[in-house]
Amino acid sequence: MKKKIAILFGGQSTEHEVSRVSASSVLKNIDKTKYEIYSIGITKDGKWLEYKGKIENIENGEWESDEENKIPNGQNILFNKEVDVVFPVLHGLYGEDGTIQGLCKLLKIPFVGPGVLSSALCMDKIYTKYVLENFGVKQADYVVVNKFDYNKDKESIINHIEEKLGYAVFIKPSNSGSSVGITKAHNRERLVSGLEEALKYDRKVLVETAINAREVEVAVLGNDEPKAAVPGEIIPAKEFYDYEAKYKNEASKLLIPAALSKEEEEEIKKLAVDIYKMLDCQGMSRVDFLIDKDTDEVYLNEINTLPGFTSISMYPKLWQASGKGYSQLIDELIELAIDRGND
Ligand SMILES: Nc1ncnc2c1ncn2[C@@H]1O[C@H](COP(=O)(O)OP(=O)(O)O)[C@@H](O)[C@H]1O
Ligand SMILES: [Mg+2]
Repeated sequence: MKKKIAILFGGQSTEHEVSRVSASSVLKNIDKTKYEIYSIGITKDGKWLEYKGKIENIENGEWESDEENKIPNGQNILFNKEVDVVFPVLHGLYGEDGTIQGLCKLLKIPFVGPGVLSSALCMDKIYTKYVLENFGVKQADYVVVNKFDYNKDKESIINHIEEKLGYAVFIKPSNSGSSVGITKAHNRERLVSGLEEALKYDRKVLVETAINAREVEVAVLGNDEPKAAVPGEIIPAKEFYDYEAKYKNEASKLLIPAALSKEEEEEIKKLAVDIYKMLDCQGMSRVDFLIDKDTDEVYLNEINTLPGFTSISMYPKLWQASGKGYSQLIDELIELAIDRGND
């Protein structure tokens, strides 16, 4: 019997559009001889609709106005336990942050990717730091800014950031993704505007020392015995890898494998797997590092528990370079979800 898989796409986050592109790649490549597929779109305002139309319409967004192919209350497919596995191809809040994972757990339906705790932890850049610093993982120096405190006394918070970190700094909403709300500041004026910008997205903001860095990413796959694929490197087209550079600028390039010696490669793969375990990840995650161009020191940047999954995204491409094709990768993710069950 074919396994029944729910592919969730869209979602209520700033990464709604990216998710649609990831999901259409999954839908195009998933082996239909093995699985019966239910595509369920989540609109930006949180409606769940089963979608039976063309995959292209998911990618270009037209699915939402395609009245003939939409079935309301797509959530019932989960609630009625009509599927064996949920694959949340969702990025960012309400998808990658433990909420959908919690729903699947409540319903006792296995799902692709890490569980509730690690999803929530990795989504929150500040809490990722708090946990990993206890394990001695090297990360950029930082200051945490809370909206309430900032509004009470901006001056002293800004002074503290300048004293502790100097410039340049990165300013990030703690719960962000796809670089939305992230800016780089070289001076006080930009620091203030960056804080105001980031505080639009979250009540907690992370300010971090900017590292003159190469960006190296490691794809990790597995439950109890996770493995890392060959590392890849991002060559951003702009000063940093912002939303535009990620998705719109053709000049941003992925270098696979990353320009590392064999020893460096082994070291960073091991570090990625260790971090994956420290954060209790399962299924998959992409562990992103910053390597200081001057000192070669390796800093953890962030962990993405449901990384970009288009056929040209880093995560699947790294596995491809390691001998695992896109469809095989989907098969393994589904197997890992089933093996884990409701643990
Ligand atoms: N401390 C830092 N030093 C240098 N570059 C950074 C730093 N933090 C972030 N960046 C740059 O900003 C980009 C987005 O930041 P990141 O923390 O990865 O957020 P997101 O979750 O949105 O991907 C990174 O890919 C990198 O180009
Ligand atoms: Mg990132």
